[in-house]
Amino acid sequence: MTLNTSFRPGQPWLDTDGKPIQAHGGCMLFDNGTYYWFGENKDGENYLDESKGFLHRVDVIGVSCYSSTDLLNWKNEGVVLRSEPNNPQSDLHPSKVLERPKVIRNPKTGKYVLFAHVDTADYEYACIGIAISDKPTGPYIYLGSIRPNGNDSRDMTVFQDDDGSAFLFFSSEWNKTLHIIQLDNEYLRPTQNESRAFIGQSREAPAVFKHGRKYYIISSGCTGWDPNQAELAAADSPLGPWTVLGNPCIGPNADITFHAQSAYVFPLAGNSNALIAMFDRWNKDNLRDSRYVWLPVRFENDQVKIRWQEPWDLTAFK
Ligand code: DGJ
Repeated sequence: MTLNTSFRPGQPWLDTDGKPIQAHGGCMLFDNGTYYWFGENKDGENYLDESKGFLHRVDVIGVSCYSSTDLLNWKNEGVVLRSEPNNPQSDLHPSKVLERPKVIRNPKTGKYVLFAHVDTADYEYACIGIAISDKPTGPYIYLGSIRPNGNDSRDMTVFQDDDGSAFLFFSSEWNKTLHIIQLDNEYLRPTQNESRAFIGQSREAPAVFKHGRKYYIISSGCTGWDPNQAELAAADSPLGPWTVLGNPCIGPNADITFHAQSAYVFPLAGNSNALIAMFDRWNKDNLRDSRYVWLPVRFENDQVKIRWQEPWDLTAFK
């Protein structure tokens, strides 16, 4: 087994079994000394769904989980939320869509709660699926799907604040406007604490993080699997109001997010000043070979910068 010793954005990334990591549109959870990387398992056949505009897709396999203590070498913990091939009605049937899974731990209940964009192949169902587990590595029990407070929901993420409050961020109103809704104490239901942001601006792929007292969101434009320019915005509260700050990416192809799209931003364990941005470099003709672009997030004179760097390692934060 070869050890990974650096981050190689855009290069194949093999797990500790030597297999390409399948954790697209992912997220990171640090729990009890271990990092857990969750994402879409797209290790299936690519085809065009002709029901609506020739969409490139892979049938749903489920949500993968990998574990690591160094963020470079990842052990496959398996598919922790599986598709349900025998139930065509299920949100988890292979013919459906299961994207951008996000997992947070509820400190009050001790449960791990998984949220994901669940949809029909034509993207008209537009819901958030919720599943829970007693362990980070699952299995996750699927509880069902919601349209939060009646709103359609496609690309989404979850942000958990230091005080334990948690917020859904999701592209709504046919992707035109981002909605933000606080979750209840159990993280299982939306509350009435909600707002709209980036109204009419068609933002997708939200990735939310906090630095100091400021909240930040990176999002993409709406161009299917094709890359476009990322946009950063900041606020004093998760519900906004959000101020657009522009493109945080610097370097070759920064205008198309280094050929990638935002997925998640997370701080290193025990170092809230060291954050890593996770992007997906989608390969729509062979989605299983979509690559990962992870880069350090820099705070320079109160500005957020994400510079192309290849290779790099955690000494970048020293
Ligand atoms: C862009 C989204 O960000 C992805 O998660 C996926 O839904 C593609 N669109 C599908 O075209």
